Amino acid sequence: MENLIQLVNRLQQACTALGDHGEESSLPTLWDALPSIAVVGGQSSGKSSVLESVVGKDFLPRGSGIVTRRPLVLQLHRLDGGREYAEFGHLPRKKFTDFAAVRKEIADETDRETGQSKAISTVPIYLSIHSPNVVNLTLIDLPGLTKVAVDGQPESIVQDIENMVRSFIEKPNCIILAISPANQDIATSDAIKISREVNPTGDRTFGVLTKIDLMDKGTDAVEMLEGRAFKLQFPWIGVVNRSQADINKNVDMIAARRREKEYFESTPEYQHLASRMGSEHLGKVLSKHLEAVIKSRIPGLQSLINKTILELETELSRLGKNVATDAGGKLYMIMEICRTFDGIFKEHLDGVRPGGDKV
Ligand code: GDP
Ligand code: NA
Ligand code: MG
Repeated sequence: MENLIQLVNRLQQACTALGDHGEESSLPTLWDALPSIAVVGGQSSGKSSVLESVVGKDFLPRGSGIVTRRPLVLQLHRLDGGREYAEFGHLPRKKFTDFAAVRKEIADETDRETGQSKAISTVPIYLSIHSPNVVNLTLIDLPGLTKVAVDGQPESIVQDIENMVRSFIEKPNCIILAISPANQDIATSDAIKISREVNPTGDRTFGVLTKIDLMDKGTDAVEMLEGRAFKLQFPWIGVVNRSQADINKNVDMIAARRREKEYFESTPEYQHLASRMGSEHLGKVLSKHLEAVIKSRIPGLQSLINKTILELETELSRLGKNVATDAGGKLYMIMEICRTFDGIFKEHLDGVRPGGDKV
């Protein structure tokens, strides 16, 4: 049976592929209803580093200042074997095996939409990575929250970024990955501030503490990691990403992951927490959680999908013989994906509710 997360990925891509044509249908609503995970935090808190560690590959543009200027929807697909590759939504059928080229394409595609200004855009970039080293997961990288405009940016940029981040994380189906650096006071964390605003109960917020290796001598993150300093519903997860010096030296991600594991296992303060720390653990926790959330949303998603199928059928019959057109072809494709969903959801519901007590 196809993995639920992969199915949701395909549906997400299909909704986007249809673009403007889907405006009057339920497709935008359907997109919003699909569970996803968004990464939020202040600039340089370690968001991109966390994403790269979870993927086990470096492929994100980096540099100081505002690098991420469009949402990046990152869909991870686990391969059983074979060579890893990446694909962009805006370049279908082009397989990237060189991840430096992936980084360049993200930067170029950002500039195509925003011009070379430091402006931001809410139009997402879709990137899927197929690899034996990833868990099935969808993550959205967002621009970092800032306090002041720099480099000739418009004054409105601070608020524009906050509004964009908010538009993603206020959706009830969005799981929030709130990134806070351990070497700053948690009371000043942008990630905690905004996620507490949109999700006061914390039932869809995961707290990640970065830069544990950079804390002042004589201090440690045990109170934070044990949830005694700031309680969240889910346990805090600490990570140690590559430092800027590691990045400059091209320390590879797999070696960095191994070193991170050793760090938690060999530091006396953290030994008792080691099994639930680190990027690899984070990836597994998120994948499991995302799958559980998708399962719990099946009844609602199913009725939305049935509604969408009906609308697509109407639209297709209106197009009549012109189904061969581009829009017609896409509509048809989405309808097929929706039908696959419907079938698979039914199987899952049967599994979840013995006796076929369907909602
Ligand atoms: P973003 O702006 O939130 O995406 O932050 P980045 O991931 O680009 O990280 C900003 C800087 O902090 C980079 O130079 C990273 O190497 C560094 N960094 C991030 N996480 C850690 C960490 O856990 N430990 C150390 N030593 N450096 C880190
Ligand atoms: Na940055
Ligand atoms: Mg970044």
